[in-house]
Amino acid sequence: MNEHVPVAAAAAAIAIERLTVRFGEVVAVDDVSLSIGEGEFVSIVGPSGCGKTTVLNLLTGLVPLAEGRISMLGRAPTVGNPDVAYMLARDCLLPWRTALGNACYGMEVRGVDEAQREARARELLARVGLKGFEDKWPKQLSHGMRQRCALARTFCLDAPVMLMDEPFGALDAQTKLQLEDLLLELWNARRRTVVFITHDLAEAVALSDRVVVMSARPGRIVADVPIPLARPRHVRSLQKDRHFLELYAHVWEQLEAGLGAQAEVVS
Ligand SMILES: Nc1ncnc2c1ncn2[C@@H]1O[C@H](COP(=O)(O)OP(=O)(O)OP(=O)(O)O)[C@@H](O)[C@H]1O
Ligand SMILES: [Mg+2]
Repeated sequence: MNEHVPVAAAAAAIAIERLTVRFGEVVAVDDVSLSIGEGEFVSIVGPSGCGKTTVLNLLTGLVPLAEGRISMLGRAPTVGNPDVAYMLARDCLLPWRTALGNACYGMEVRGVDEAQREARARELLARVGLKGFEDKWPKQLSHGMRQRCALARTFCLDAPVMLMDEPFGALDAQTKLQLEDLLLELWNARRRTVVFITHDLAEAVALSDRVVVMSARPGRIVADVPIPLARPRHVRSLQKDRHFLELYAHVWEQLEAGLGAQAEVVS
């Protein structure tokens, strides 16, 4: 059994200091500071348009930094950083590659040798329940299967930092639960640093060590809620756990308080 590692003991893998992002007149993210420990699983929740994806895009280096500072494992964010893996809501599989080819893709870009990447991709595809589907094209897979394939591809990279933007957002409840448990299982084996964006508060609480709550635009951090549930966890069995339900209610309150604060500013 893995012991739950206390957050305070971990070194910061990601440090965001006083980040503000403007798109013309629009302030998308307002003065956000956040420190994420090595091996920590942190979710960010908040209303649509509050700047969650923008924060993630800044961490990948896709959006240039204008105001504030960001350190990713001690360095400024750069596009194509081999220490960072990225997974999005829509699977983004390459249609001209098979499941195996897609799972291999990130490793190929990073120059992993062919035999090694194929062995690893096959292993991860089997872990996500796609054994026997290695040679199928994305169009021959269901949406849930494509998300599994994308999950395998993300884990194939074995990057110290994983950034996930609503990776299970468009799935049915059953498939979502399965993939959440799978994600926890894979994460539990390696304890990489994860930043996970979701609209699903139950998902955020079930998966994370901390849930960061943002207000409506301009996005600010209104709460940072530690989730001291024991690990390893099983999302399915947490659904009726009293402590889980209390934490879920607490995160809801924080989110609503953030919306209320915003309404007062606007009115
Ligand atoms: N490239 C861009 N140009 C102009 N405005 C942008 C750009 N990207 C994001 N924005 C604006 O910044 C704000 C935050 O957008 P972002 O996509 O980060 O929100 P989000 O919290 O991820 O929302 P959702 O939950 O709907 O995915 C929005 O008001 C959006 O319109
Ligand atoms: Mg978004």
